This record gives sequence, C-alpha cells and structure tokens, in this order.
Amino acid sequence: MPQTVLLTGGAGYIGSHTYVALAEAGYRPVILDSFVNARDDVPERLARLTGAPVSCHRADIRDATALHRVFAAERIDAVIHFAALKSVGESVARPLDYTETNIGGLMTLLRVMGEAGLHRLVFSSSATVYGAPQTLPIPETAPVGHTNPYGFTKLTCEQILQQLAASDPRWCFGILRYFNPAGAHHSALLGEDPRDTPNNLMPYLARVATGELPALQVFGDDYDTPDGTGLRDYIHVEDLARGHVLSLGALLEQGAGHLVNLGTGQGYSVLEVLRAYSRACGRDLPHVIAPRRPGDVAACYADPSRAADFLGFRACRTLDEMCASSWAWISAART
Ligand code: UD1
Repeated sequence: MPQTVLLTGGAGYIGSHTYVALAEAGYRPVILDSFVNARDDVPERLARLTGAPVSCHRADIRDATALHRVFAAERIDAVIHFAALKSVGESVARPLDYTETNIGGLMTLLRVMGEAGLHRLVFSSSATVYGAPQTLPIPETAPVGHTNPYGFTKLTCEQILQQLAASDPRWCFGILRYFNPAGAHHSALLGEDPRDTPNNLMPYLARVATGELPALQVFGDDYDTPDGTGLRDYIHVEDLARGHVLSLGALLEQGAGHLVNLGTGQGYSVLEVLRAYSRACGRDLPHVIAPRRPGDVAACYADPSRAADFLGFRACRTLDEMCASSWAWISAART
C-alpha cells in the first residue's frame, strides 16, 4: 500500500510540482485546494502527467468541517502544507486576511490532524524569515525577523510548529525555507501564471517575453552588488519539489524533524536573470532601470549545507534551465 500524503494547496505552483514528484516516488498524493490562486485544469493535467486519477478536494484550509471530511474519506499518513497567501504587497494592504489564512489555516489544520491522530507535517516556509540578512550565504542559524505581514505569518507559523514539537513529542515537522522558486515542469504542463500582473521577477519576465508587458522594470541598480542589481538564489521548482519528497521521507521513515534552507547557494543578479531569459526566448528583452522597491534587500542566498547533510538534497538545475522551462510553459499556455 503506498503511503497517502495530503497536499494542502496542492493545485498551486509548488504544490502541483510536488504532486508529480511524490507520485513518481511511489506515494499517493491527495489534493485539498480552494482554487483561489490555482487553475481549474491542474488536476486534469496532473492526471495526464502521472497516468492515474487525481483525488482532489475543493475546500478552504480554514474550513474545519471540510478538513474533517477529507481526513475521514482518505487514509492520510502525512501532510504537506502549502496552502497560504503569498504576496508581500497584498499582505501590507490586507494584513488580517494574511493572519487568518496563513496562521488561522495552520491552526485549523493542526487541530484536525491531532484529532485524527496524525502528527507528521512538512511546512512551506520562506527565506523571508531572515529579514535583511546579516551574513551571506545564510545558514539556518542566522537571526530571524520580519518586515511585512506576510513574513510575520511565516515566522509565526514556524514558531507555532517548533513550540508544539517541543511540548508534545508525538509531533514531528519538516520546516522548509524556500529561496526563490523559479521555472516550470519540463513537460510544459505545469508552471506559474498568476491571475494579476506578477510581482516576482521570473513570471514578470515571462510576460515581457510573450509581449503582454512592455519591459522589465529593474528595481534599483545602485545596490552593493557586482552589477548594482539585487542578487537572489533562484531554485528550479522541480528541484524544490524533490526537496519535499526527501523531507517527507525523513519524517515518515526516521521520525526526524528538521528545519532546512532549500536553495542552490548561488546568487544571480536581476540583469543576469534578464540575460538568461533573453537567451531562452531568443530575443533581447527590453528593460528600464526603476527606483528600488521598498523592502527589498541587496542580496539573499542560502547556505544549502544543512539540507545536503540532513536530507541529501542538492539543487542541480541551472538558471538557464529555469528560464527555458518557464518560456516553454508560458508559450504552451498561450497557444
Ligand atoms: C519575494 C518576496 C518574498 C517571497 C518571495 C517568493 C518581496 C519583497 N519579497 O522575494 O518575501 O518569499 O518573493 O518568491 O516581495 N525585481 C525587479 N523587477 C521586477 C520584479 C523583481 O527588478 O519586476 C527584482 C527584485 O528587486 C529582486 C529580484 O528581482 O532583486 C527578485 O524579486 P522577486 O522575484 O520579487 O523575489 P524576492 O523579492 O526575492
């Protein structure tokens, strides 16, 4: 019998890629998603990719009754919790929605899991918990903080989980701090395509490449970095998905809780990403230099050694592969 894993937010960008990686590793993934930020055809695409029917429950993470129903209907062995709101700018405008969905959603999920006798969970966290980093590359032991409501919710959720594991040994958590997820599935059937104008660099570049947006605005070229633009640790979403499979394995097979960075350890500047995307789509993408974006830091990249030592995780796909897969996905999505 394969082990069954509930993916909250499993129809979203990272959740859907993780679904495929889990199915390939022999697990039976089950989706719970509200579809507020996911395409309706994702379950159908996952069925095509995996060659098996998809079990998908349409429900909000804050709906305890719906969660109880799912736990009663499926024999769940562990949970990977992706479901959350994730836009920094929106979180400043709607802080209570972020508290309610991200922190309230986690609380509801933990209560229902506890009542179902289930205590293994992988949590989607973010490098945003490092605030303005004081050391580079950033190890997990670096000081944490937050500079916006989104970051506050991620850090608070981490602390809730750490507190729970410390006071009740039945609970066991894998906390994954993502750096900058990028790229798309090599099949071009899954990827990131936000409903509104994208805030993040790679999906924004994708729309410049399709001609839907006129030019990339480079937010600041006067940072203390080699070319003056911001440095980030972009990690291919298929590598990130594999990190979840390894994290789940550590929880289920060894009962070993962990908190790890998922990044490559390599920083790329905005201009380097722009050039890589231009290579991928075959033309020089237009850009303009704009003022710095409030809240941005100059550089942020991971010390990936704990994930390597503890999980055997190494991100192997290159920036060129991230851009090429993103371009293939967006081109297919627009035809
Ligand atoms: C952002 C969030 C972070 C979140 C992460 C998820 C902010 C301040 N931070 O990280 O909390 O966890 O997304 O992926 O929003 N850039 C441009 N022009 C653009 C867009 C981005 O120059 O149109 C630059 C940014 O200034 C930055 C780099 O590209 O230097 C990456 O930006 P982005 O993709 O938004 O990610 P982060 O800001 O690192």
